[in-house]
Amino acid sequence: MLTVAVCMALLSCLQAQELQGHVTIILLGATGDLAKKYLWQGLFNLYLDESVKGYRFSFNGGALTPTKQGQEHVAKVLESLSCPKDVAPDRCAELKDQFQRLSQYRCVKTSEDYLALSKDIEAQVQHSGVREIGRIFYFSVPPFAYVDIARNINSSCRPGQDTWLRVVLEKPFGHDLLSAQQLATQLGSFFREEEMYRVDHYLGKQVVAQILPFRDQNHRALDGLWNRHHVERVEIVMKETVDVAGRISFYDRYGVIRDILQNHLTEVLTLVAMELPHNISSVESVLQRKLQAFQALRGLQKGSAVLGQYQAYSEQVHRELQKPDSFRSLTPTFAGVLVHMDNLRWEGVPFILMSGKALDERVSYIRVLFKNRAYCSQNEKHWLEGQSHCLPQQIIFNIGYGELGSPAVLVSRTLFRPSLPAESWKEVASRPGLRLFGRPMSDFYAYSPVREQDAYTVLISRIFHHQKDSFVTTQNLLASWAFWSPLLESLANEVPRLYPGGAENGQLLDFEFRDTQLSFSQQPLEQLVPGPGSTPKPSDFQALGAKYRDSPLISAWPEELVAKLASDIEATAVRAVQRSGKFHLALSGGSSPVALFQELATGHYGFPWAHTHLWLADERCVPLWDPESNFQGLQAHLLQHIRVPYYNIHPMPVHLHQRLCAEEDQGTQIYAEEISALVANSSFDLVLLGMGTDGHTASLFPQSPSGLDGEQLVVLTKSPSRPHNRMSFSLPLINRARRVAVLVMGRMKREITTLVSRVGHDPQKWPISGVQPSSGQLVWYMDYEAFLG
Ligand code: BG6
Repeated sequence: MLTVAVCMALLSCLQAQELQGHVTIILLGATGDLAKKYLWQGLFNLYLDESVKGYRFSFNGGALTPTKQGQEHVAKVLESLSCPKDVAPDRCAELKDQFQRLSQYRCVKTSEDYLALSKDIEAQVQHSGVREIGRIFYFSVPPFAYVDIARNINSSCRPGQDTWLRVVLEKPFGHDLLSAQQLATQLGSFFREEEMYRVDHYLGKQVVAQILPFRDQNHRALDGLWNRHHVERVEIVMKETVDVAGRISFYDRYGVIRDILQNHLTEVLTLVAMELPHNISSVESVLQRKLQAFQALRGLQKGSAVLGQYQAYSEQVHRELQKPDSFRSLTPTFAGVLVHMDNLRWEGVPFILMSGKALDERVSYIRVLFKNRAYCSQNEKHWLEGQSHCLPQQIIFNIGYGELGSPAVLVSRTLFRPSLPAESWKEVASRPGLRLFGRPMSDFYAYSPVREQDAYTVLISRIFHHQKDSFVTTQNLLASWAFWSPLLESLANEVPRLYPGGAENGQLLDFEFRDTQLSFSQQPLEQLVPGPGSTPKPSDFQALGAKYRDSPLISAWPEELVAKLASDIEATAVRAVQRSGKFHLALSGGSSPVALFQELATGHYGFPWAHTHLWLADERCVPLWDPESNFQGLQAHLLQHIRVPYYNIHPMPVHLHQRLCAEEDQGTQIYAEEISALVANSSFDLVLLGMGTDGHTASLFPQSPSGLDGEQLVVLTKSPSRPHNRMSFSLPLINRARRVAVLVMGRMKREITTLVSRVGHDPQKWPISGVQPSSGQLVWYMDYEAFLG
């Protein structure tokens, strides 16, 4: 057994070894912009902080630039490094000199270059005479170069046993979920997760790094406040005045959502919204809470975002990408996105994420605005001391820049006096005349870091100390792409609103939100981004009344069409309730009814929901909580906004006994019996249908072996697209309805509407042609694009 004395001796020996270990840092992309602006300075700061503790270093810059040219470039950058304010100039010159002697540059291209690099690292370690403890490879290179470099490092530059390897990666980490997955898999074949440090430099910003500690340290005050009952909204904003001239070849493939929102603003969002773990220093617990926050994010749709593009962008694209004048890039340089979280803490609280180039000011902040229920009858100038309960109450994490100029945490004095770590944060006196977020600075308790540090310096130090909580893990990255990719896909062809840039933007980019929809507040004075030809505007048309397949057709622009259908449904509902005390409405899934659900949810306060029974005309064989489920769409866009007694809601029983649409479970019979029991004569007051591009309706597809005729009311069917298994109303059941509305929207439907207008009764080929209510009325609702093309 070891004695205590031996243990102590061993321990101090280990500590002494650790203190004198050698660390090699290899900066790849050493002649690039980021290296010049931040990374060399960050490495110098690391050297200043850690060499005094006994660590030995060597710094190797590498890039594709030829050696001599690269050496000259790096020498200039090293000459411009600066020391902290409290270091005397002579001492600073000495320290820079030491750092320069430890730094060198080489051209690295081939696998032989990496082998040679590895040999040199070993020689440097030997020369320093102390044990090697680790190597850091910093990838400040474009992502297409990642895999080759990773392969070379893995095969030639891995250190020996007991010496750690850390690789630092800079965004972009893919441009959508699939590419991010591919890149993660490739990198994962060379490095272990714990070896990878994906940088999001916002996580190195002092204020961002303070969000969790602030929430933790002030939890007594915040516990009751940090939730939907008290928070009015959260704004997460990064405004920039610069444009992207000179960076177009990168930027045009990414745009503002990929460049800023998917990473910086999303990271910040999760820190604000996640549940606090018991121990905020536990990297694993923080990650789990973050992932839970991602799960609670409600899926985004096209209408969740507004996009803009500064006017000079086009010309910059033509110049930098050598595109013809006729080329128009749709890449957004401005985006506002409305995000919601479906959990008990944040249900209903709007999170606004906004970023843009060429705006009127440079500022990044998170603003948590609280609800204020007080009304003060006196003018502010007559308020007595302490009578400030009418003031807005807010907590602001000023990440940087803006009127204040420095990072700061601000808390309205009407809320509470916050506590921040005294050794690193100091209270700042208010500056007379300075107004922040509409209030004099004196309204806030304000705290700033004692020593301001730039994000890269913070992150480099954290990499050195193996503090992984400031980096983006693979799971976290993929969760973020999974959230953003569907929106990016749906916006791919969206024409951004043009804006002049700077103060001239005026109110052009102001936006408003209503439920899950976001829209610019101002209609543009002119069509700034010209569409093809002289497109008629919605107001140029009245809803058009005509006939289609011998039944009434209502055609209009989408918004008007949806509004008309919603009011027709309401009128039908009111009549049904007057007649029988109930309204039985069967709804279909798909994307077309989403706008209708939203319209019904928000614009129809007179709707007799309390007497309405809601049924599904078809369903996908997935669990009801699955995003693919029609019921889920209904829930997200309608049910959660209205008050229908829960026993009036009749989801299709596709998920019984833990199985999906198993014949033995007799889900179709169960639903048919429920209909027969509750709906007089199984005749719905209204069935809402759509029409697919192949002529299907509900989930009755061409050549379906069931549901097109016969006795069955509800059937199992197969769809050619995923998910294949479906449950559906049969045509005979549909045709018993008092009224059937078929909603058809979008240009994609143009061909099928033309075709179906010509075919006779042929449900085998075109199931929609079998919709012919025996005694009820069929009405078609088509938007102009579906009807006229
Ligand atoms: C980078 C983006 O990640 O962040 C740039 O690629 C942006 O487009 C920059 O300008 C902003 O960072 P900061 O630290 O100046 O707010």
